[in-house]
Amino acid sequence: MLPLALQVRDATVRYGVVPAVTNLSLELAKGQITTIIGANGAGKSTLLNAIAGILPLEGSVAFFGQDIGKHSVEQRVADGLILIPERRELFGSMTVEENLLLGGYTQRAHIRTIMEGIYEDFPRLKERRKQEAATLSGGERQMLAMGRAMMAKPKVLLMDEPSLGLAPLIVREILDIVVRLKDLGVSILLVEQNARAALRIADMAYVMENGQCILAGTAAEVSANPRIEQIYLGHHTPASAGD
Ligand SMILES: Nc1ncnc2c1ncn2[C@@H]1O[C@H](COP(=O)(O)OP(=O)(O)OP(=O)(O)O)[C@@H](O)[C@H]1O
Ligand SMILES: [Mg+2]
Repeated sequence: MLPLALQVRDATVRYGVVPAVTNLSLELAKGQITTIIGANGAGKSTLLNAIAGILPLEGSVAFFGQDIGKHSVEQRVADGLILIPERRELFGSMTVEENLLLGGYTQRAHIRTIMEGIYEDFPRLKERRKQEAATLSGGERQMLAMGRAMMAKPKVLLMDEPSLGLAPLIVREILDIVVRLKDLGVSILLVEQNARAALRIADMAYVMENGQCILAGTAAEVSANPRIEQIYLGHHTPASAGD
């Protein structure tokens, strides 16, 4: 069995007294993609933010077997647990290159070498390295958010809806990059509302409803579940060209 990159047990996350995530457990094996799908408001972003240490989590979080529940956000980043937030949160008035350099602040000695590697993975970022982040297209902004996260040499990436608001062709390009990151050995927890696309590239899948996990299994098992088929996959016309 693969070692676990992340193990979350009995997680509850509250805003004030109201729980947004309740008694949720999940695992991410090293080198795999685990996806979390679920409707708006299910608690997906809340869970990712709590795993990253931004929100307090009741329960436990282990990172490669080590309990990190008391670690600060900064410690988690230094260990290689990196969140790419839903809103991409770039520094808009800074250039592409300045954003990348900020992402690599934990890697001072190798920062230029790492950046050259990222420019090879994302030639479009290299072309636009002097451009202000605020002027990038949606797809380019997501690439910059991913490139900036890569600057921190992540072991685990927490990705919150990387395809949000992007056109289908760009969605495909972004998800191809997610698969490339997996092939490089990064373990990925991928939150997506685009269930069809996420299940296609994931190894394991969890389905969240109202802060709870209602179904878990391999991506193939979850895709084949009749209820999931109906709610999350069924409303599309089947097998359009190239699908
Ligand atoms: N800062 C906050 N204060 C209070 N309640 C919040 C806060 N942020 C989120 N919530 C509530 O927590 C619940 C879960 O929200 P969350 O953003 O985690 O859902 P989500 O699954 O990521 O949804 P989406 O797919 O729309 O991004 C929602 O009911 C939301 O209103
Ligand atoms: Mg969200």
